[in-house]
Amino acid sequence: GATDVAPGSKIASPPPGAFLAYPPIAAASQEVKRTAFQLPTQFTTFSYDENHTQHFDNSAMRYYVKPPPSARLDYGYERWIRQDDDRGRIDALLRALVDAKKDPSKAQYVPDNGVVCWRGMMTKILIGPYENRDAWDLNVMFVNGVLYLEEHATEAKLRERNDMPPRQRQQTYYGYSFESYCTSDTPTRQTTRKRTGEPPGWGGDVNTNVQWCSVVRTKLGDTRIVIGGEVDCVRGQYTGSTDTFVELKTSMVIRGPHDESKFEKKLLKFYFQSFLLGVPEIVVGFRTPAGVVTTIQSFKTIEIPRLVRGKPGAWDPLVCLDWGNTLLDFVKTVVSKETNPETQDASRQVWRLSFVPGTGVNVRLLGESDVDEVVNGEDRIGFLPRWYWEELHT
Ligand code: A3P
Ligand code: MG
Ligand code: MG
Repeated sequence: GATDVAPGSKIASPPPGAFLAYPPIAAASQEVKRTAFQLPTQFTTFSYDENHTQHFDNSAMRYYVKPPPSARLDYGYERWIRQDDDRGRIDALLRALVDAKKDPSKAQYVPDNGVVCWRGMMTKILIGPYENRDAWDLNVMFVNGVLYLEEHATEAKLRERNDMPPRQRQQTYYGYSFESYCTSDTPTRQTTRKRTGEPPGWGGDVNTNVQWCSVVRTKLGDTRIVIGGEVDCVRGQYTGSTDTFVELKTSMVIRGPHDESKFEKKLLKFYFQSFLLGVPEIVVGFRTPAGVVTTIQSFKTIEIPRLVRGKPGAWDPLVCLDWGNTLLDFVKTVVSKETNPETQDASRQVWRLSFVPGTGVNVRLLGESDVDEVVNGEDRIGFLPRWYWEELHT
């Protein structure tokens, strides 16, 4: 723990940290600053197999197929193979970058500046101005001009994820079950059933170890960003770029104005999650509380902001992009100021970015015991795996 300090060991006392408050959400009359966001370019992909082993191929890619009417999302729950939690480590993304560096057609895209992170982290950052409930923490390292961001998975958070209450676990399963009904190994659905009693259109039992991921390069304001994230499926054919990608989502059926504004708020997350990877289409399955899909609706990602404009659950993506840009500049400024006075090397240091809903973000340098918790007894420099560190320093 933080108080068990061996006698004589040197503790770098962390500075109190720097704080960035939200910009006030622009009033309707006020002009929101336009922050440029470059169209994401995919430069590599990879797959995880049923054992969650990473392969640099498209073996886990799935095709979109129309789900059957009234699909029952509770089917197959007992056979769900769940991915063991890997703490949201950045390792697989780093392996993809190292692999891409070896390929002359991809090497030019591997960044020597800017930000590297999973899509989920960047989504959390961008939707911050509209998040008034959930706090989050990121760990940050700044090595050779690149800012690496990784989720800070506290023990409590990991436990919460692994011991979900049954009802919540069931609902989480519905999302994966919908993916099964909506996808196939081939562009058209195979009709052979694997099991008696299998419902029509079932795409196979759920194993959440299996994932297909895309790695894209984009730019927010002046900051180069490399993002990796899961892509649910492609429509028609895979073109080698993001333009046929489809994101699948489930949501409760809308029964009135209250549900509608709740859904409009949810669209903010759907929007940025897809936007960041260049996914042009989101297919939403609306389901009953018991998990029966009643309707399917396809949204064009770029049209979503216009759909919510002026509605009760309205949000403005420009507010998010401006906030994200300001936040990344702020983090860069803070972490590039602080170097270890003895080694003049700041690259081994780990910073903690803490988001306080409704308020803003705090950045502070971690002390030794906090870094120990992040390293978690693994072979790492900060949160970066040693093999990656060596790759960067040879
Ligand atoms: P739904 O989004 O349809 O609910 P993704 O939408 O990102 O492809 O994720 C697929 C499914 O994983 C989700 O389906 C949901 O069931 C589950 N999931 C993703 N993120 C989650 C989170 N933060 N908490 C709980 N479940 C999550
Ligand atoms: Mg997904
Ligand atoms: Mg999805």
